[in-house]
Amino acid sequence: MAQPATGLPANGLPAEAQPATGLPADGLPAVAPPAAAAGAAATPLARPEVEALQAYSAPLEGRRGLLRLDFNENTVGPSPQVVAAIRAIPADHYAIYPEYDGLRQAVAASLSAAAAAGPSLRPEQIGLFNGVDAAIHAVFQAYGARADLLLTTSPTFGYYSPCARMQGMEIEAIPYRLPDFAFPLEEIRAALCPAAPAGLAQPPGRPQPPRLLLLCNPNNPTGTRLAPELILELAAAAPHSLVVVDELYEAFSGDSVLPLLLQRADAGDPFAAYPNLLVLRSLSKTAGIAGLRIGFAIGPAAVVDRVSRVTGPYDINSFAVTAAFAALADQAYVDAYVAEVWRARDWLVAQLQAAGVRHHVAGGNYLLLWPGTPVVQVEAGLRAAGILVRSMAGKPLIDGSLRVSLGTLEQMQHFWDVYSRIDVGSGA
Ligand SMILES: Cc1ncc(COP(=O)(O)O)c(C=O)c1O
Repeated sequence: MAQPATGLPANGLPAEAQPATGLPADGLPAVAPPAAAAGAAATPLARPEVEALQAYSAPLEGRRGLLRLDFNENTVGPSPQVVAAIRAIPADHYAIYPEYDGLRQAVAASLSAAAAAGPSLRPEQIGLFNGVDAAIHAVFQAYGARADLLLTTSPTFGYYSPCARMQGMEIEAIPYRLPDFAFPLEEIRAALCPAAPAGLAQPPGRPQPPRLLLLCNPNNPTGTRLAPELILELAAAAPHSLVVVDELYEAFSGDSVLPLLLQRADAGDPFAAYPNLLVLRSLSKTAGIAGLRIGFAIGPAAVVDRVSRVTGPYDINSFAVTAAFAALADQAYVDAYVAEVWRARDWLVAQLQAAGVRHHVAGGNYLLLWPGTPVVQVEAGLRAAGILVRSMAGKPLIDGSLRVSLGTLEQMQHFWDVYSRIDVGSGA
């Protein structure tokens, strides 16, 4: 995510938050007295971590009516059953605080049925959140203390870092391996378990294990897939870290840890052997209800309990609850949409290959491509034709690429029709 220039000093704090020496960061006396001393009303300062933070912002305005291939959303909307369920909510229910009875059970049943093996997840192993974004935020609030370490990969989903920063955490982001963005398994293993030499106690000053390991699988934006067996291995090797697997796009590649956990379930509890594992799932990208905001954190009851403690009692609204029940009851709709996205993906990849456009495709409902024409020009040309894509400008390893979400075959045919006319230099 591109960070806007802030004009803030090197320590990231605004002038009024500089250390109380009276001197600015360069150590020289200020020419003018500070605003507060001059009698101007002082802005109440937030925590230092918040003062140093830039708001997490994404270009999310003015997108209605356009072909939205920029946020990996479902591009056709929800099941008709979801629409009918929302329309059936009587207006007097708007006046009542939301009720969540039965929703955890419905999520547990749906996830367990998809795994088709072993025992079921229990309702207390399901946390309900106002989208997975809110679940991520809650994980950091519950577990991330100042100076704790977040271990993750780079580039990855842009919301992990600001959540870590607002807690004052340190971040170690290990790059994917070029040329094909392979998962940096050895490096993650080494950083996760900073082992003392064999037979010796941890010497003083040796790095502590990370508080949190955040893995996006498949990774957004590189699509990198990591075998669920390896994730379980990492979790088992790092009992002092909470291992969070963001499976937002698993429906588009099938790499979930949940079926494995359910198959291996010890004494009927899928998390018995993995008390430090948390899985994130959402209905945003598959079921077409991103605008209603609902997401789930699935894990040991004790972890779900702690992550849920830092949310408000009514954070998920009634419309999202009704939509979630209806969406979970119509898995066939989601399956059909996912199959259509795969069909569209295969078609688009064939066009990119035939035209010699550099691209990278792996898991997820998106791919990366590197236009021969300057990216800004391609992005603007597509936008003028009513198509939104996401520039990866400034992202490590993939600067200069565009991330294109995959929709229906017809939508991707339209995308290609326009793209191949704009990116004339690419051989398209
Ligand atoms: C990897 C990843 N995690 C989480 C989210 C947030 O999902 P939700 O809509 O459930 O908040 C996104 C959305 O783009 C995402 O790409």
